[in-house]
Amino acid sequence: MLAKITSSLCVGIESSLIEVEVDISSGLPQITIVGLPDQAVKESKDRIKAAIKNSGFHFPSRKKILINLAPADIKKEGPIFDLPIAIAILVAHGHIHPKHVESFCIIGELALNGALRAVKGALPIAMGLKGTIKKLILPIYNAREAALQQNVAVYPVRSLEEAVHFLNGDKTITQFSVSLSNYLQNKQKYPVDFSDVRGQLFTKRALEIAVSGAHNILMVGPPGSGKTMLAKRLPTIFPDLTYDEALEITKVHSATGTLKSHHGFISLRPFRFPHHTISAIALAGGGPIPKPGEVSLAHNGILFLDELPEFNRNVLEVLRLPMEDKTVTVARIKQVMTFPASFILVCAMNPCPCGFFGDRKKECHCSTAKIEKYLSKISGPLLDRIDMHIEVGRLTIKEFKSDHTEESSEKIRQRVNQVRQLQEERFRNTKNIHFNAQMNPKEIDAFCTRTNKAQELLELAMKELAFSARAYHKILKIARTIRDMKTVHSCTPRHISLLDKVIPIESDDISEALQYRGLDRNWLNRS
Ligand SMILES: Nc1ncnc2c1ncn2[C@@H]1O[C@H](COP(=O)(O)OP(=O)(O)OP(=O)(O)O)[C@@H](O)[C@H]1O
Ligand SMILES: [Mg+2]
Ligand SMILES: [Zn+2]
Repeated sequence: MLAKITSSLCVGIESSLIEVEVDISSGLPQITIVGLPDQAVKESKDRIKAAIKNSGFHFPSRKKILINLAPADIKKEGPIFDLPIAIAILVAHGHIHPKHVESFCIIGELALNGALRAVKGALPIAMGLKGTIKKLILPIYNAREAALQQNVAVYPVRSLEEAVHFLNGDKTITQFSVSLSNYLQNKQKYPVDFSDVRGQLFTKRALEIAVSGAHNILMVGPPGSGKTMLAKRLPTIFPDLTYDEALEITKVHSATGTLKSHHGFISLRPFRFPHHTISAIALAGGGPIPKPGEVSLAHNGILFLDELPEFNRNVLEVLRLPMEDKTVTVARIKQVMTFPASFILVCAMNPCPCGFFGDRKKECHCSTAKIEKYLSKISGPLLDRIDMHIEVGRLTIKEFKSDHTEESSEKIRQRVNQVRQLQEERFRNTKNIHFNAQMNPKEIDAFCTRTNKAQELLELAMKELAFSARAYHKILKIARTIRDMKTVHSCTPRHISLLDKVIPIESDDISEALQYRGLDRNWLNRS
């Protein structure tokens, strides 16, 4: 007898419906799986057989069982088809009526005792359900993430036995649902705060600009100056995630299988902090079973590369495309997968191998050649994509001991929020651009109007300080963010939407922006 079950497979962060067909006939006893299965799917035969027997059902051992996974041109990976294949065998064998399975999509990995294990990609799978299939049977561990897709009925099960009883109407399972407002009301809480960091006003200001306009930033400073400490506090000054942002991030984690079952929803801004020994594939995504890399796990958040020169130069090269396109494309046989990758890149490094070049108190013992070699480890094209480079100095004992109360993350965050709202209005009709840092020359022309004085200063700086043409655009974008910050902070939030969205950049905005281009001036001849 022939049986058919609808299942689904997550490919990248999208999903495809898969038909699982099972035919049981007389003939030489054997189980064959066709339809481009990988090794894990082929190995499922024995698992399924054991799970069916151990769940108390009869397995047709003396029959010929043909399992077809369609369409045949999609490579079927992983153990996600265990449950639909087992159910299809039980339908074909007469344990379940075919009518009872028609409206369901079924996914799940089976243990030998018939218990279900979590699978990857439950959220993209729920989001990909269409037509008449709007009901999903899946392992209980994946219920939360799948239920985020509100127009799909999610039925969580613990075992094959439970799934069969439910389909036969012998057991009731309540549809699983989550309250989205509960998730979003979950205010972001962090154990760290900007007020932990004493002094460093210049660096704090630069970081606020970076987050406000989504500019990539590099911090250069001696050991112990607080670079890592500051970077780790960056998520605390971002605006709360919107529902759409949170859903995009959760989708990536669902596809990677890194969601905790009791969470199901990522509501914290990503802060990814990969070690410098990371491989190109782990950073950008890919591999034999393609997975999103750190750039995608940092989507809508921060990718922090601490000790930048320690990273392998070739590994850093893979950042170039995602930084430009805000997505990563992984090519595979017969298919191309695209993962989102829109993040702010934050890097930190010492100015030289000993760490004290340019320090006010400690002497640097590195030769010029040694410093040059150290700096040359950083990929030029990567540096080109970083808007801001700043020097972070060490605190003096006096600054460190001062009893001055530092500004809290919450206060900074409120300001960042306003500047981001202004940009949202500005770029409402501009496709794929949300923040100042993302402007192309066309938008720079339209939105970076400046006073004559500002233009004069910019031209003078280009000439005197030998800035490159590339730096010219970057300075304008940073100056745009600085002017936006000044504009919104001088008026009440209510008035923001009424503001002229292109208040001209002034010369003091340009002169401040110039300070955030430390590497344009020759690093070694600074002092
Ligand atoms: N401005 C500051 N306010 C309070 N504590 C600070 C400050 N700067 C540094 N510290 C203290 O010094 C420690 C070291 O700072 P951090 O690790 O951030 O330095 P770093 O610049 O990353 O150094 P390295 O170059 O060695 O990585 C912090 O954990 C913190 O305790
Ligand atoms: Mg550090
Ligand atoms: Zn040195």
